[in-house]
Amino acid sequence: MADWNTLFYDKKNIEMMPEPEVIKFVELLKKEFPKEQERKVWDLGCGAGRHSLVLGQMNCTVFISDNSSNAIELTKKKLDENKITYTDRLISMENYPWNQKEFLHGVFSWNVLQHNTVKKITEAVNCIYESLVPNGYFLGSIKSTKADLYGKGEEIEKNTFILNEGKEKGIIHHYFDEEGIKKLFPTDKWEIVVLAEQVVNYVSKVEKFWEINPFRYTTWCILVKKR
Ligand SMILES: C[S@@+](CC[C@H](N)C(=O)[O-])C[C@H]1O[C@@H](n2cnc3c(N)ncnc32)[C@H](O)[C@@H]1O
Repeated sequence: MADWNTLFYDKKNIEMMPEPEVIKFVELLKKEFPKEQERKVWDLGCGAGRHSLVLGQMNCTVFISDNSSNAIELTKKKLDENKITYTDRLISMENYPWNQKEFLHGVFSWNVLQHNTVKKITEAVNCIYESLVPNGYFLGSIKSTKADLYGKGEEIEKNTFILNEGKEKGIIHHYFDEEGIKKLFPTDKWEIVVLAEQVVNYVSKVEKFWEINPFRYTTWCILVKKR
């Protein structure tokens, strides 16, 4: 049974290239907060730091958190090597990590929020909300019920599974349908700027294709603005 901390011991589980969305996110924040000396951005569930590095290189003030000590150490090493200063917290997503509220311009979280139960994911989104200044943005990707491995493993609550195959075997995954993802970002608190379900239809694939798959997986992509 894997957990994220163990997965990070093996280089093949570490994504090196950042997703292009992180660059577009910083460009958006620069446009939306032109007068700020520094744009403060939190990489929630930073993993090995591929996005934290881009945030730093694009002159953001970087905040990182993850509940894996290996992830935090890998990210810190990457940031230190690039002389990027940061604030870090080893903490699970449902707990508020910072000693200030309403101080961040953006929160970025790629393929992280899905790794919990609905109650705790909702708490995590509340933490994101509390951390942002009014009109601050959240950009994230979160698993969809149309994803490849949906339904595999032990269902511990509706649409939440402990995966029993693939690279992330043993890890908790919640899959959101449209109603669920909309409920996670209620419109009295968030303006939904873009909600896109990126569906990848694998027409043909070899067994254990995920070991070498260079392509994307089906996911919700969401960009929201705090009201
Ligand atoms: C698929 S990886 C994505 C890492 C990074 N965001 C990236 O795109 O490279 C999922 C990350 O979520 C983190 N994670 C899983 N459960 C978490 C939790 N309860 N609280 C905080 N981070 C968690 C893992 O340690 C891992 O770093």
